[in-house]
Amino acid sequence: MPGDGIGNQVLPEAIRVLDAVGFDATYVHGDIGWEFWKSEGNALPDRTIALLEKHKLGLFGAITSKPKKEADTELAPSLKGKGYTYYSPIVTMRQRFNLDICVRPCVGFSGNPLNFIRKKVGGGFEEPQVNVVVFRQNTEGLYCGVEWTNPPAPVRQALESHPKFKPFKDTKGEDLAISVRIITRRGAEGICRAAFEHAKKYGYKNVTICEKPNVLRETSGMMEEVAKQVAKDYAGIPLWSTNIDAQTMWLTKNPEDYGVIVASNLFGDVISDAFAGLVGGLGFAASGNVGDEVAVFEPTHGSAPKYAELYPPIVNPIAMILSAAMMLDYVGEHDKAERVRGAIAAVVSEGRVRTYDMMRIPGGAKSIAQGAATTTQMADAILKKMESVKVGTAAD
Ligand code: NAI
Ligand code: MG
Repeated sequence: MPGDGIGNQVLPEAIRVLDAVGFDATYVHGDIGWEFWKSEGNALPDRTIALLEKHKLGLFGAITSKPKKEADTELAPSLKGKGYTYYSPIVTMRQRFNLDICVRPCVGFSGNPLNFIRKKVGGGFEEPQVNVVVFRQNTEGLYCGVEWTNPPAPVRQALESHPKFKPFKDTKGEDLAISVRIITRRGAEGICRAAFEHAKKYGYKNVTICEKPNVLRETSGMMEEVAKQVAKDYAGIPLWSTNIDAQTMWLTKNPEDYGVIVASNLFGDVISDAFAGLVGGLGFAASGNVGDEVAVFEPTHGSAPKYAELYPPIVNPIAMILSAAMMLDYVGEHDKAERVRGAIAAVVSEGRVRTYDMMRIPGGAKSIAQGAATTTQMADAILKKMESVKVGTAAD
């Protein structure tokens, strides 16, 4: 499912890498994204859902989404006024297949000029070795989609039954927006267990539950309570508890101390982007959306429309290729995944081939003249390294 914009540039490169590493697969194309909203009134057509149902494994590039007004304007004239509503195909996919576990590794490759560095007290700099994997609950929390402006009467009545609603009692309905934060014990347990299982399997030294239980007593409170219960099954892996606000401060103070971080939907979204920023940002941020039956792997970045029309393409394919490596892990092809990551680590540390983001220069047609590699040249460099890099040399 390449989707829109640069999704179409990075996904074919990832498939080249998968082919080269010997992953024996047939790729079936799935339609998704803005084009299908415009032409069919559905950004995730039923035929694509059927493909995922059948094949159970997805690689996804990125999609474009636009605000409601633009969505309505761009809909094909024949579909206008027929009751079509734009829904994010990613959120729909997560909900439809209950892809409730979102995994976002934030692992620094040494030699990456984008890695976070810290000033030392006595002068000079040090580069913390960041190796964090964020487990984000993907289907509940503040992104569950239960929200209103001008809530209907029964909802309003229920809210008014709560003593803390008093200050809002006189706010007119049309001036009142409500988004509900739903946490279920089942969802909390699923994400906490997945986090601990990952820590156990890959030898991470701690699991941190990152919430705000002192204020969000019910929802974050349940997350923390469940995390403590689950932790009992994993002797030897300590559970740390941090507040989301404090965690973003500690992010730059001691990021090397954290292993696996587990959080509800919004907090996990925030903290995974924050950690990703320490290790190279969008060009490096991979993710997996995992459910009981279906799993979809995608870079965290979007369709970057401003680069979508550039030829040759200049965006960094590493986030997409790392997402493909996560898929290899998921299907048990760990050696192949390690070979891919090892090759990326080697290319990054050598520093001869760098896309524009890694050079800290503006992207655009001119960046190639300034020495930036194209998307394809970066993938070529990784392919070439894969021929020589042995298993187990990844930056972990
Ligand atoms: P974006 O991630 O598409 O791009 C933001 C900026 O990050 C780009 O302009 C570029 O400078 C940089 N960037 C992104 N990917 C890069 C790569 N692989 N290599 C180098 N630099 C890269 O986010 P933006 O601009 O906020 O959104 C653009 C469209 O993408 C919107 O329609 C948005 O809704 C959608 N989007 C889709 C996502 C998805 O499909 N998962 C996630 C985020 C945004
Ligand atoms: Mg995000």
